[in-house]
Amino acid sequence: MSDIVLHRTPTPTSAERRAEILANPVFGHYFVDHQLLADYSADGGWGPMRIEPMGTWQMHPAAAVLHYGQEIFEGLKAYRRADGSVWLFRPEANAARFARSAARLGMPAVPETDFVEGIRRLVELEHEWVPDPAGEQSLYIRPFMVASEPYLGVRPASGYTFCVIASPVGAYYDEPVTLWLTPNYTRAAPGGTGAAKCGGNYAASLDAATEAEQEGCGQVLWTDGAERKYIEECGTMNFMFVSRDGELVTPALTGTILAGITRDSLLTLAERHGLTPVERRVTVEELFDGVESGYVAEAFACGTAAVVTPIVGFKAPGGVHHVVADGKPGAKTKEMRAALVDIQYGRAEDPFGWTQRVC
Ligand code: PLP
Ligand code: COI
Repeated sequence: MSDIVLHRTPTPTSAERRAEILANPVFGHYFVDHQLLADYSADGGWGPMRIEPMGTWQMHPAAAVLHYGQEIFEGLKAYRRADGSVWLFRPEANAARFARSAARLGMPAVPETDFVEGIRRLVELEHEWVPDPAGEQSLYIRPFMVASEPYLGVRPASGYTFCVIASPVGAYYDEPVTLWLTPNYTRAAPGGTGAAKCGGNYAASLDAATEAEQEGCGQVLWTDGAERKYIEECGTMNFMFVSRDGELVTPALTGTILAGITRDSLLTLAERHGLTPVERRVTVEELFDGVESGYVAEAFACGTAAVVTPIVGFKAPGGVHHVVADGKPGAKTKEMRAALVDIQYGRAEDPFGWTQRVC
Protein backbone atom coordinates (compact mmCIF):
# COMPACT_ATOMS: atom_id res chain seq x y z
CA MET A 1 0.00 0.00 0.00
CA SER A 2 3.00 2.27 0.80
CA ASP A 3 2.43 6.02 0.15
CA ILE A 4 -0.60 7.61 1.77
CA VAL A 5 -2.36 10.31 -0.26
CA LEU A 6 -4.10 13.04 1.75
CA HIS A 7 -7.24 14.81 0.56
CA ARG A 8 -8.00 17.39 3.22
CA THR A 9 -11.55 18.28 4.09
CA PRO A 10 -12.47 21.81 3.03
CA THR A 11 -14.76 22.03 6.09
CA PRO A 12 -12.84 20.93 9.20
CA THR A 13 -14.59 21.08 12.56
CA SER A 14 -13.96 24.44 14.24
CA ALA A 15 -11.73 24.52 17.31
CA GLU A 16 -14.73 25.73 19.37
CA ARG A 17 -16.97 22.86 18.27
CA ARG A 18 -14.19 20.32 18.84
CA ALA A 19 -13.62 21.68 22.36
CA GLU A 20 -17.35 21.32 23.03
CA ILE A 21 -17.29 17.69 21.87
CA LEU A 22 -14.12 16.86 23.79
CA ALA A 23 -15.68 18.26 26.95
CA ASN A 24 -18.16 15.36 26.87
CA PRO A 25 -17.23 12.74 24.29
CA VAL A 26 -20.08 10.22 24.35
CA PHE A 27 -18.75 6.81 23.23
CA GLY A 28 -18.73 6.41 19.45
CA HIS A 29 -20.91 9.40 18.71
CA TYR A 30 -18.54 11.98 17.22
CA PHE A 31 -15.88 11.43 14.60
CA VAL A 32 -12.65 13.09 13.53
CA ASP A 33 -12.57 14.99 10.23
CA HIS A 34 -10.90 12.32 8.09
CA GLN A 35 -10.96 8.59 7.45
CA LEU A 36 -8.25 6.30 6.07
CA LEU A 37 -9.27 4.10 3.15
CA ALA A 38 -7.78 1.46 0.85
CA ASP A 39 -9.41 -0.79 -1.72
CA TYR A 40 -8.48 -4.33 -2.64
CA SER A 41 -9.19 -6.25 -5.81
CA ALA A 42 -8.31 -9.85 -6.51
CA ASP A 43 -6.51 -8.74 -9.72
CA GLY A 44 -4.58 -5.77 -8.41
CA GLY A 45 -4.19 -6.52 -4.67
CA TRP A 46 -4.28 -3.52 -2.32
CA GLY A 47 -4.43 -0.09 -3.90
CA PRO A 48 -2.76 2.89 -2.18
CA MET A 49 -3.98 4.01 1.23
CA ARG A 50 -5.59 7.43 1.17
CA ILE A 51 -6.92 9.81 3.75
CA GLU A 52 -10.24 11.34 2.75
CA PRO A 53 -12.69 13.73 4.42
CA MET A 54 -14.96 11.91 6.87
CA GLY A 55 -18.28 11.15 5.23
CA THR A 56 -20.49 8.57 3.60
CA TRP A 57 -19.30 6.18 0.88
CA GLN A 58 -21.11 4.73 -2.02
CA MET A 59 -21.69 1.02 -1.97
CA HIS A 60 -23.43 -1.20 -4.51
CA PRO A 61 -26.60 -2.74 -3.05
CA ALA A 62 -25.24 -6.17 -4.00
CA ALA A 63 -21.99 -5.65 -2.05
CA ALA A 64 -21.29 -8.95 -0.30
CA VAL A 65 -21.01 -7.41 3.18
CA LEU A 66 -24.62 -6.22 2.98
CA HIS A 67 -25.86 -9.76 2.43
CA TYR A 68 -23.49 -12.21 4.08
CA GLY A 69 -21.79 -10.05 6.69
CA GLN A 70 -18.22 -10.55 5.49
CA GLU A 71 -16.77 -7.89 7.82
CA ILE A 72 -14.08 -7.64 10.50
CA PHE A 73 -12.99 -4.83 12.80
CA GLU A 74 -10.56 -3.78 15.51
CA GLY A 75 -10.52 -1.35 18.40
CA LEU A 76 -7.56 0.49 19.88
CA LYS A 77 -6.94 3.87 21.47
CA ALA A 78 -4.63 6.88 21.24
CA TYR A 79 -3.83 8.51 24.58
CA ARG A 80 -2.67 12.03 25.33
CA ARG A 81 -0.03 12.32 28.02
CA ALA A 82 0.43 15.14 30.51
CA ASP A 83 3.18 16.64 28.31
CA GLY A 84 0.76 16.84 25.36
CA SER A 85 2.29 13.97 23.35
CA VAL A 86 0.05 11.33 21.75
CA TRP A 87 0.71 7.57 22.05
CA LEU A 88 -0.75 4.28 20.80
CA PHE A 89 -1.02 1.12 22.90
CA ARG A 90 0.09 -2.18 21.29
CA PRO A 91 -1.14 -1.41 17.74
CA GLU A 92 0.91 -4.34 16.40
CA ALA A 93 -1.23 -6.69 18.49
CA ASN A 94 -4.36 -5.26 16.83
CA ALA A 95 -2.72 -5.63 13.42
CA ALA A 96 -1.95 -9.28 14.14
CA ARG A 97 -5.47 -10.00 15.38
CA PHE A 98 -6.95 -8.21 12.35
CA ALA A 99 -4.90 -10.54 10.14
CA ARG A 100 -6.19 -13.58 12.05
CA SER A 101 -9.78 -12.35 11.75
CA ALA A 102 -9.26 -11.73 8.02
CA ALA A 103 -8.00 -15.28 7.51
CA ARG A 104 -11.02 -16.72 9.37
CA LEU A 105 -13.48 -14.68 7.29
CA GLY A 106 -11.82 -15.51 3.97
CA MET A 107 -10.57 -11.96 3.50
CA PRO A 108 -7.19 -10.70 2.26
CA ALA A 109 -4.58 -9.73 4.85
CA VAL A 110 -3.83 -6.05 5.31
CA PRO A 111 -0.02 -5.98 5.67
CA GLU A 112 0.53 -5.44 9.40
CA THR A 113 3.06 -2.65 8.92
CA ASP A 114 0.59 -0.79 6.66
CA PHE A 115 -2.18 -1.28 9.22
CA VAL A 116 -0.05 0.38 11.92
CA GLU A 117 1.38 3.06 9.63
CA GLY A 118 -2.08 4.03 8.34
CA ILE A 119 -3.35 4.43 11.90
CA ARG A 120 -0.30 6.46 12.90
CA ARG A 121 -0.83 8.83 9.97
CA LEU A 122 -4.53 9.32 10.69
CA VAL A 123 -3.90 9.93 14.40
CA GLU A 124 -1.06 12.33 13.63
CA LEU A 125 -3.33 14.30 11.29
CA GLU A 126 -6.15 14.32 13.84
CA HIS A 127 -4.02 14.73 16.98
CA GLU A 128 -6.10 17.69 18.13
CA TRP A 129 -8.99 15.27 18.59
CA VAL A 130 -7.14 13.27 21.25
CA PRO A 131 -8.70 14.44 24.53
CA ASP A 132 -6.74 15.55 27.56
CA PRO A 133 -5.93 12.70 29.93
CA ALA A 134 -8.19 14.06 32.68
CA GLY A 135 -11.13 11.72 33.12
CA GLU A 136 -9.28 9.00 31.20
CA GLN A 137 -10.65 10.02 27.87
CA SER A 138 -8.95 8.95 24.67
CA LEU A 139 -9.33 8.71 20.90
CA TYR A 140 -10.93 5.37 20.02
CA ILE A 141 -9.68 4.05 16.68
CA ARG A 142 -11.83 1.67 14.69
CA PRO A 143 -10.15 -0.11 11.75
CA PHE A 144 -12.47 -2.36 9.75
CA MET A 145 -12.75 -4.19 6.45
CA VAL A 146 -15.84 -4.99 4.38
CA ALA A 147 -16.48 -7.14 1.31
CA SER A 148 -17.43 -4.64 -1.38
CA GLU A 149 -17.75 -6.81 -4.48
CA PRO A 150 -21.28 -6.65 -5.95
CA TYR A 151 -22.12 -10.33 -6.29
CA LEU A 152 -24.92 -12.38 -4.78
CA GLY A 153 -23.27 -15.81 -4.82
CA VAL A 154 -21.94 -17.14 -1.55
CA ARG A 155 -18.14 -17.23 -1.74
CA PRO A 156 -15.31 -15.01 -0.52
CA ALA A 157 -15.66 -11.67 -2.34
CA SER A 158 -13.02 -10.48 -4.78
CA GLY A 159 -13.18 -6.83 -3.67
CA TYR A 160 -12.75 -5.25 -0.22
CA THR A 161 -12.48 -1.84 1.42
CA PHE A 162 -10.27 -1.27 4.46
CA CYS A 163 -11.14 1.82 6.48
CA VAL A 164 -10.08 3.47 9.74
CA ILE A 165 -12.29 5.96 11.55
CA ALA A 166 -11.74 7.51 14.96
CA SER A 167 -13.92 8.89 17.71
CA PRO A 168 -13.06 10.72 20.95
CA VAL A 169 -14.42 8.70 23.86
CA GLY A 170 -14.94 8.65 27.59
CA ALA A 171 -15.90 5.62 29.68
CA TYR A 172 -17.85 2.81 27.99
CA TYR A 173 -19.39 1.77 31.32
CA ASP A 174 -19.82 4.44 33.97
CA GLU A 175 -20.60 2.00 36.73
CA PRO A 176 -19.79 -1.51 37.95
CA VAL A 177 -21.75 -4.15 36.08
CA THR A 178 -23.87 -7.18 36.98
CA LEU A 179 -23.69 -9.97 34.40
CA TRP A 180 -26.57 -12.00 33.02
CA LEU A 181 -26.25 -15.72 32.22
CA THR A 182 -28.68 -16.12 29.37
CA PRO A 183 -30.54 -19.44 29.13
CA ASN A 184 -31.49 -18.76 25.52
CA TYR A 185 -28.38 -17.89 23.55
CA THR A 186 -24.73 -18.74 23.04
CA ARG A 187 -22.14 -16.51 21.38
CA ALA A 188 -19.73 -18.92 19.76
CA ALA A 189 -19.60 -22.60 18.90
CA PRO A 190 -16.50 -24.76 18.45
CA GLY A 191 -15.33 -24.22 14.88
CA GLY A 192 -17.28 -20.95 14.62
CA THR A 193 -16.06 -17.36 14.55
CA GLY A 194 -15.81 -16.64 18.29
CA ALA A 195 -12.07 -15.95 18.16
CA ALA A 196 -12.45 -13.54 15.23
CA LYS A 197 -13.51 -9.93 15.65
CA CYS A 198 -16.27 -9.95 13.05
CA GLY A 199 -19.49 -7.98 12.98
CA GLY A 200 -21.66 -11.10 12.86
CA ASN A 201 -20.62 -12.09 16.39
CA TYR A 202 -21.97 -8.80 17.67
CA ALA A 203 -25.17 -8.85 15.60
CA ALA A 204 -25.92 -12.30 17.02
CA SER A 205 -25.38 -11.02 20.57
CA LEU A 206 -27.84 -8.13 20.48
CA ASP A 207 -30.97 -10.00 21.47
CA ALA A 208 -29.17 -11.45 24.49
CA ALA A 209 -27.95 -7.96 25.42
CA THR A 210 -31.55 -6.73 25.37
CA GLU A 211 -32.49 -9.68 27.57
CA ALA A 212 -29.66 -8.73 29.98
CA GLU A 213 -30.92 -5.16 30.12
CA GLN A 214 -34.45 -6.36 30.88
CA GLU A 215 -32.95 -8.33 33.76
CA GLY A 216 -31.25 -5.19 35.06
CA CYS A 217 -27.79 -6.37 33.97
CA GLY A 218 -25.19 -4.40 32.04
CA GLN A 219 -23.82 -7.29 29.98
CA VAL A 220 -24.14 -10.96 29.14
CA LEU A 221 -21.67 -13.47 30.54
CA TRP A 222 -21.46 -16.02 27.74
CA THR A 223 -21.07 -19.71 28.37
CA ASP A 224 -19.62 -22.19 25.88
CA GLY A 225 -21.77 -23.12 22.91
CA ALA A 226 -21.33 -26.89 23.24
CA GLU A 227 -22.31 -27.62 26.86
CA ARG A 228 -23.23 -24.25 28.35
CA LYS A 229 -21.10 -25.34 31.24
CA TYR A 230 -18.02 -23.17 31.00
CA ILE A 231 -17.65 -19.42 31.37
CA GLU A 232 -16.31 -17.75 28.23
CA GLU A 233 -16.40 -13.94 28.06
CA CYS A 234 -18.70 -10.92 27.96
CA GLY A 235 -20.16 -9.32 24.85
CA THR A 236 -17.48 -6.63 24.60
CA MET A 237 -14.90 -7.72 27.18
CA ASN A 238 -12.94 -10.67 28.55
CA PHE A 239 -13.81 -11.97 32.00
CA MET A 240 -11.44 -12.38 34.97
CA PHE A 241 -11.68 -13.01 38.68
CA VAL A 242 -9.29 -12.69 41.59
CA SER A 243 -9.29 -15.71 43.87
CA ARG A 244 -8.87 -15.65 47.62
CA ASP A 245 -5.59 -17.51 46.99
CA GLY A 246 -4.11 -14.66 44.98
CA GLU A 247 -4.72 -15.99 41.49
CA LEU A 248 -5.91 -13.92 38.54
CA VAL A 249 -8.10 -16.44 36.74
CA THR A 250 -9.48 -16.07 33.23
CA PRO A 251 -11.03 -18.60 30.84
CA ALA A 252 -8.44 -20.23 28.60
CA LEU A 253 -8.53 -19.33 24.90
CA THR A 254 -10.19 -22.45 23.54
CA GLY A 255 -10.91 -21.02 20.09
CA THR A 256 -14.32 -19.56 20.90
CA ILE A 257 -13.13 -16.54 22.92
CA LEU A 258 -11.66 -13.30 21.59
CA ALA A 259 -7.97 -13.04 22.50
CA GLY A 260 -8.21 -9.62 24.13
CA ILE A 261 -5.17 -7.38 24.15
CA THR A 262 -6.24 -5.93 27.50
CA ARG A 263 -6.60 -9.50 28.81
CA ASP A 264 -3.08 -10.33 27.69
CA SER A 265 -1.71 -7.09 29.18
CA LEU A 266 -3.33 -7.74 32.58
CA LEU A 267 -2.10 -11.34 32.66
CA THR A 268 1.40 -9.98 31.99
CA LEU A 269 1.04 -7.36 34.75
CA ALA A 270 -0.47 -9.76 37.32
CA GLU A 271 2.72 -10.92 39.01
CA ARG A 272 3.85 -7.35 39.64
CA HIS A 273 0.68 -7.02 41.72
CA GLY A 274 1.09 -10.20 43.71
CA LEU A 275 -1.27 -12.25 41.55
CA THR A 276 -0.53 -15.52 39.76
CA PRO A 277 -2.01 -15.47 36.25
CA VAL A 278 -4.05 -18.58 35.50
CA GLU A 279 -5.72 -19.41 32.18
CA ARG A 280 -8.02 -22.39 32.52
CA ARG A 281 -11.56 -23.53 32.00
CA VAL A 282 -13.99 -22.31 34.65
CA THR A 283 -17.46 -23.80 35.08
CA VAL A 284 -20.51 -21.75 35.93
CA GLU A 285 -20.94 -23.92 39.00
CA GLU A 286 -17.41 -23.20 40.19
CA LEU A 287 -17.92 -19.48 39.66
CA PHE A 288 -21.23 -19.30 41.50
CA ASP A 289 -20.09 -21.58 44.36
CA GLY A 290 -16.87 -19.58 44.55
CA VAL A 291 -18.74 -16.30 44.85
CA GLU A 292 -20.85 -17.76 47.67
CA SER A 293 -17.88 -19.30 49.52
CA GLY A 294 -15.66 -16.25 49.12
CA TYR A 295 -13.16 -18.08 46.88
CA VAL A 296 -14.01 -15.56 44.15
CA ALA A 297 -12.90 -12.42 45.96
CA GLU A 298 -13.25 -9.97 43.06
CA ALA A 299 -14.39 -10.09 39.45
CA PHE A 300 -13.93 -7.75 36.53
CA ALA A 301 -14.13 -7.61 32.77
CA CYS A 302 -11.59 -5.97 30.50
CA GLY A 303 -11.33 -4.59 27.01
CA THR A 304 -10.10 -1.59 25.06
CA ALA A 305 -13.39 0.30 25.21
CA ALA A 306 -14.36 -0.88 28.70
CA VAL A 307 -10.80 -0.78 30.17
CA VAL A 308 -11.28 -2.66 33.48
CA THR A 309 -14.92 -2.76 34.52
CA PRO A 310 -15.73 -4.15 37.97
CA ILE A 311 -18.25 -7.01 38.03
CA VAL A 312 -20.26 -6.87 41.21
CA GLY A 313 -22.76 -9.65 40.66
CA PHE A 314 -24.21 -12.40 38.49
CA LYS A 315 -27.82 -13.13 37.66
CA ALA A 316 -29.28 -16.26 36.13
CA PRO A 317 -32.83 -17.48 35.46
CA GLY A 318 -35.01 -18.47 38.38
CA GLY A 319 -34.13 -15.51 40.54
CA VAL A 320 -30.51 -16.61 40.98
CA HIS A 321 -28.44 -13.63 42.10
CA HIS A 322 -24.89 -13.88 43.40
CA VAL A 323 -23.20 -10.77 44.73
CA VAL A 324 -19.40 -10.69 44.62
CA ALA A 325 -17.95 -10.00 48.10
CA ASP A 326 -19.47 -6.75 49.41
CA GLY A 327 -20.89 -5.78 46.00
CA LYS A 328 -18.29 -3.07 45.46
CA PRO A 329 -15.27 -2.91 43.12
CA GLY A 330 -12.40 -4.88 44.68
CA ALA A 331 -9.00 -3.52 45.70
CA LYS A 332 -7.00 -5.65 43.20
CA THR A 333 -9.43 -4.67 40.44
CA LYS A 334 -8.72 -1.01 41.11
CA GLU A 335 -5.00 -1.66 41.40
CA MET A 336 -4.80 -3.59 38.12
CA ARG A 337 -6.87 -0.95 36.35
CA ALA A 338 -4.62 1.84 37.64
CA ALA A 339 -1.48 -0.08 36.63
CA LEU A 340 -2.76 -0.51 33.08
CA VAL A 341 -4.00 3.02 32.50
CA ASP A 342 -0.88 4.50 34.11
CA ILE A 343 1.19 2.75 31.43
CA GLN A 344 -1.25 3.83 28.70
CA TYR A 345 -1.14 7.48 29.79
CA GLY A 346 2.60 7.43 30.44
CA ARG A 347 2.24 7.95 34.18
CA ALA A 348 4.18 4.74 34.83
CA GLU A 349 7.15 3.31 32.99
CA ASP A 350 6.44 0.81 30.22
CA PRO A 351 8.92 -2.04 30.60
CA PHE A 352 7.12 -4.10 27.95
CA GLY A 353 7.45 -1.67 25.03
CA TRP A 354 3.67 -1.56 24.67
CA THR A 355 3.35 2.16 24.01
CA GLN A 356 4.57 4.05 20.97
CA ARG A 357 4.64 7.78 20.37
CA VAL A 358 2.78 9.20 17.38
CA CYS A 359 3.48 12.91 17.89
N1 PLP B 1 -14.15 -9.83 23.89
C1 PLP B 1 -14.96 -9.20 23.02
C2 PLP B 1 -16.12 -9.96 22.51
C3 PLP B 1 -14.69 -7.89 22.61
O1 PLP B 1 -15.50 -7.27 21.75
C4 PLP B 1 -13.57 -7.23 23.13
C5 PLP B 1 -13.25 -5.87 22.69
O2 PLP B 1 -12.48 -5.63 21.85
C6 PLP B 1 -12.74 -7.93 24.03
C7 PLP B 1 -13.07 -9.21 24.39
C8 PLP B 1 -11.50 -7.28 24.59
O3 PLP B 1 -10.48 -7.21 23.62
P1 PLP B 1 -9.39 -6.06 23.67
O4 PLP B 1 -8.85 -6.07 25.04
O5 PLP B 1 -8.39 -6.45 22.65
O6 PLP B 1 -10.08 -4.79 23.36
C1 COI C 1 -13.33 -2.65 21.95
O1 COI C 1 -13.19 -2.69 23.16
O2 COI C 1 -12.51 -2.15 21.20
C2 COI C 1 -14.51 -3.22 21.33
O3 COI C 1 -14.44 -3.54 20.19
C3 COI C 1 -15.73 -3.32 22.11
C4 COI C 1 -16.87 -2.78 21.38
C5 COI C 1 -17.53 -3.67 20.46
C6 COI C 1 -17.35 -1.46 21.66
